[in-house]
Amino acid sequence: MMAAIRSSRAVFGNFLQKNLCPAISARASSVWAGVPMGPPDAILGVTEAFKKDTNPKKINLGVGAYRGDDGKPFILECVKKAERQMLEEGLDHEYAPISGFPAFTSASAALAFGDNSPVVKEGLNATTQGVSGTGSLRIGAAFLSRFYACKEIYFPAPTWGNHNPIFKDSGMSIKSYRYYDPKTCGFDFNGAIEDISKIPEGSVILLHACAHNPTGVDPKPEQWKEMSQVIKKRNLYPYFDMAYQGFASGDIDKDAYALRLFIEDGHKPCLAQSFAKNMGLYGERAGAFTIVCSDKDEQARVLSQIKILIRPMYSNPPIHGAHIVSKVLNTPELRKEWLGEVKSMADRIITMRSMLKDGLASEGSKHNWQHITDQIGMFCFTGLKPDQVDRLIKEFSIYLTKDGRISVAGLSSSNVGYLAEAMHQVTK
Ligand code: LMR
Repeated sequence: MMAAIRSSRAVFGNFLQKNLCPAISARASSVWAGVPMGPPDAILGVTEAFKKDTNPKKINLGVGAYRGDDGKPFILECVKKAERQMLEEGLDHEYAPISGFPAFTSASAALAFGDNSPVVKEGLNATTQGVSGTGSLRIGAAFLSRFYACKEIYFPAPTWGNHNPIFKDSGMSIKSYRYYDPKTCGFDFNGAIEDISKIPEGSVILLHACAHNPTGVDPKPEQWKEMSQVIKKRNLYPYFDMAYQGFASGDIDKDAYALRLFIEDGHKPCLAQSFAKNMGLYGERAGAFTIVCSDKDEQARVLSQIKILIRPMYSNPPIHGAHIVSKVLNTPELRKEWLGEVKSMADRIITMRSMLKDGLASEGSKHNWQHITDQIGMFCFTGLKPDQVDRLIKEFSIYLTKDGRISVAGLSSSNVGYLAEAMHQVTK
């Protein structure tokens, strides 16, 4: 009898073994017992740590989020007006098309390529709304992974911390080319050209259109020209990430220089845009992704496949931020006001850079801090070492990323002096 029970248990056990997914049968105690603890995000994790700090002098220079001189999140006047108009018009909450509202996508493409660009005039842009910069980059990565022959992408070293997982999770493999020179805290032009000249033909190359994140170091116009030629000669596919149009110089056209140069030079790049920074729409997740095509027929085919990729990801994009952007860009008075506001944000950042450099000199620092004002855009790559960053956080409650990057847009005239004092203390 016992032998019969044992043997029927064994049969049942075998049945379970055979019919359960091996991962489940191996972990009897809990389904998720094998899930390891992940590290906090290198950028957004800094905000989490900042929030827990009770020091009244604390400063968050981690995430790239613009603050007014009062240290508070900044809502652009043109955005407030656009929202008021939207309320008055009684906009509904219906679904947007899969690739977003045409008024939004056309205005986004025209902003990037220029109103008179043949790309826009001839309708060669396959443009879709994306979920801000990250989501737009991700659509592009998924498209390349599905349709582009080469699955290798080359990033500038260093690059924004999220580029790596965005492309890796989409099935691309990641390589890099020299970009930042720690000795000069500037652009390693010769290193970049040398490396780019050796990238295997047909690979994808990622370029920060302006205000390079995290270094704040951009190529000069003549350097862009040379890079464009080398990239063409190697037959590389340029992927532009433009998250800061207007934030670098205060001029949206100047900041689109590199992208427009590449178009003039005959490249057919793809482009991810974000309105998080230049319209202060961080949480609204408004962005766009464009593939420049050779003709209208190709444009239609490419856009059809972009939609097929988006539908199972999130179906269709959020509408509030996109309505704001298209209202601001398509209403002449609001657009004019926006251009002024972008310039004033860029100017305030430039002023903060000077105040930080001057503050370090007044503290008596003997280091060369010239790069603080030479670099451009939201971020300054200070050159601080990890142990100095640790001291800023622990001793001064000044939060920044481990690589020594600070968001200059998070400084104000009332805390820049405290930062200068702290930076001097940890570097003397
Ligand atoms: C940053 O680099 O701080 C921003 O682009 C925000 C983000 O999502 O990382």
